[in-house]
Amino acid sequence: MDKSVGISLWNGFSHLSTRSRAAWIAELTGLDQASLEALSGHQITTGVDLAESCVENAVGYFAVPLGVAAYMLIDGRDVVVPMAVEETSIIAAASSAAKFFYPHGGVTTRTEGTSSIGQIQIPGISGGEDSRRVVEAIAANQDFLLACANELVPGLAARGGGARRIDGRVLPGMVVVHVYVDTCDAMGANLINQLCEGLRPAIEDLTGEAAGICILSNLTDTRMSYATVRARHVDRHLADGVINAYEFAAQDPYRAATHNKGILNAVDAILLATGNDWRAIEAGAHAYAALTGHYRPLSHWRLEGDDLIGEIRLPTAVGTVGGVTKIHPTAQACLKMLGAQTAPELGRICAAVGLIQNFAALRALSTDGIVKGHMNLHARNLALLAGANQEEHSMLVERLREELLHKKRLTLTQARTILSEIRSNSIRKKEPFAKK
Ligand code: MEV
Repeated sequence: MDKSVGISLWNGFSHLSTRSRAAWIAELTGLDQASLEALSGHQITTGVDLAESCVENAVGYFAVPLGVAAYMLIDGRDVVVPMAVEETSIIAAASSAAKFFYPHGGVTTRTEGTSSIGQIQIPGISGGEDSRRVVEAIAANQDFLLACANELVPGLAARGGGARRIDGRVLPGMVVVHVYVDTCDAMGANLINQLCEGLRPAIEDLTGEAAGICILSNLTDTRMSYATVRARHVDRHLADGVINAYEFAAQDPYRAATHNKGILNAVDAILLATGNDWRAIEAGAHAYAALTGHYRPLSHWRLEGDDLIGEIRLPTAVGTVGGVTKIHPTAQACLKMLGAQTAPELGRICAAVGLIQNFAALRALSTDGIVKGHMNLHARNLALLAGANQEEHSMLVERLREELLHKKRLTLTQARTILSEIRSNSIRKKEPFAKK
């Protein structure tokens, strides 16, 4: 969708069947029949071609549920956000938090930098004069090295990307050459690895040293996405709770890890749905969180008057072309659904939804606690595990929710006990004249 349609867009969506939701989303976002079918994953998983072209020794597929987060208003546009994730509550929490921010204008985003980093290590450099000589040789021959680098990736250069800058960093016992490469809309891991390995002989000739490891860095602080939310005249109790939760994370790496995990719940789910390398973004996010030497939360929450403001900074070396994104029909359908054609757009959406997801977690933790939200869906799973049939399922879920209100916990044993009660009650009802 090009712009915001309004909060009512999502009315009743969660009550539809899975098929109807998919059909509705397809209509809303202009997905064709093939893309709609790709959302179910059926056709893909009945063949082995995709598995064979992605991994070695393929034996099948592991299906992960695909849902959409609702109410996401990002830079004034209603965005239908596909999320592939197995954990209950994540999509509901993101949707509910997005609904909270919708009347406040949703999320605004921006990106900074377009280059990923390739590293060429030159080991065995003793420091001092030795290091200076190597770094200077790189600096003095920057133009030549850039020309060599771009000759190695002519396709990328033709698309408007390529190597932009080269420099040397001095570390104990080594110099590390950084090559900054604009990979356009590709994540670019293969391109950068090829480029670094290809550049090795030129670096060795110029420095007179043997190069060591050549590989991209997943710490892409040169390719950042930022997102901001502002809730005006916010309830003070809520704001204090969120800020307290943020301060806890800012002080304590044990809490910051969980805080950031909550953000990555959303980011990874979008990356998986769009065929991106979520492990790369995870690694980059955690390394960025620790860049000051102290592991920090990726988001920041503060009060300005009685407005609550949230911000996030996230390294986002993502891709909308190439790799699995290109060959996986569901990833293609998800990208169409998102309306994200470029890597910066996808990066901004990841940051925006990560921030919203973070708010959802901090709000829950500082009010009802996290168990309630998780347990509502857990009740449905327990009902299935206890063996409830279709007729019994909703009755059992209802009883489990009541139980949760009283006891604050739910177990499979409780589910089984209540199910036997339901069954014996229904036998009594069917035999009205049975002896008491
Ligand atoms: C659970 O998947 C994520 C949370 O633990 C995040 C957080 O604690 O901020 C709820």
